[in-house]
Amino acid sequence: MKRVFSGVQPTGNIHIGNYLGALRQFVELQNDHECIYCIVDEHAITLPQDPKELRKHILDVAALYLAIGVDPQKSIVFVQSDVPAHAELSWILTCNSYTGELFRMTQFKSKSQNKESAPAGLLMYPVLMAADILLYDTDVVPVGNDQKQHIELTRDLAIRVNNTRKKTFVVPEGRFMKEGARIMALDDPTQKMSKSAENIHSRISLLDDDNKIKKSIMKATTDSEGIIRFDPENKPGISNLLNIYSVFSGRPVAELEAAYEGKGYGDFKKDLVQVTIEALTPIRERFNEIRYSEELPLILKDGAERANAIAVRTLARVKNVFGLGF
Ligand code: TYM
Repeated sequence: MKRVFSGVQPTGNIHIGNYLGALRQFVELQNDHECIYCIVDEHAITLPQDPKELRKHILDVAALYLAIGVDPQKSIVFVQSDVPAHAELSWILTCNSYTGELFRMTQFKSKSQNKESAPAGLLMYPVLMAADILLYDTDVVPVGNDQKQHIELTRDLAIRVNNTRKKTFVVPEGRFMKEGARIMALDDPTQKMSKSAENIHSRISLLDDDNKIKKSIMKATTDSEGIIRFDPENKPGISNLLNIYSVFSGRPVAELEAAYEGKGYGDFKKDLVQVTIEALTPIRERFNEIRYSEELPLILKDGAERANAIAVRTLARVKNVFGLGF
């Protein structure tokens, strides 16, 4: 069975971009893959976090994994900092990374904004991500499009070590959805939907109530043409909404375009509100059952033990290749 690894940062409210780009793949893959899903809290601290909020978000993400359908009997669910090998392998990979390739990462450029005072952790972020992936001899990494560059770097690092040492790492591949790999912000469809944007109506969080969902969709930026047509370049707002509608309803975009021919944006948005509420209500209900259950910490503890058992073996192999320890 091929192995799958992916992670989500516990840095805010998980939104439909995270879900449609990455999380829904987690569920799809777990029947015929060995899946490992991580809550990457060490990535979260590359930017300052309030400790209480961080801990809350860690448990929120864990509960959301389960709420969308990740089954802890089939998949390993754990918190990154519970497995020390991530940080250790990250250092070994740091010593095999070039500063030039790290400075070229677009996420680093946008988050650091060229400031001298940008945390060094932001620069090392993709190396820690490579460590997450390589530690589990991962074959497949389900993520959104924005992670493409980081996956490429992971592959480069694995190949570099394999070429200069002996074959140490499995070279992983990214897995991206055809639709949903890049969900855009509702208030500005030229930007990707993000957990950290100030305007809460730029995103729909998986735990938003019906009213908030309605407000955010009805406010979403469109254009003045009044025609429901998929054309991301000229009509990014409507195209983004069509994309969301299509994935939540399972109806192809072309079918939606035909169904809404001659209708206005208002009607289209109202129906999208319904479709979104129908998709998210079961997730919210299941989340509420799990989030404060006694089961959740036990699942994470068991997940950490299972993950650790794999991670220590890989780390020992890597340390041996590099001559570390005695
Ligand atoms: P994070 O927490 O920022 O995002 C979690 C996942 O959601 C995807 N995503 C999106 N997909 C579609 N449209 C969007 N607007 C959108 N915004 C986010 C991301 O691509 C991601 O798959 N670096 C990772 C966390 C990570 C990781 C890993 C992932 C750390 N180590 C190892 C895979 C394997 C991240 O940015 O997560």
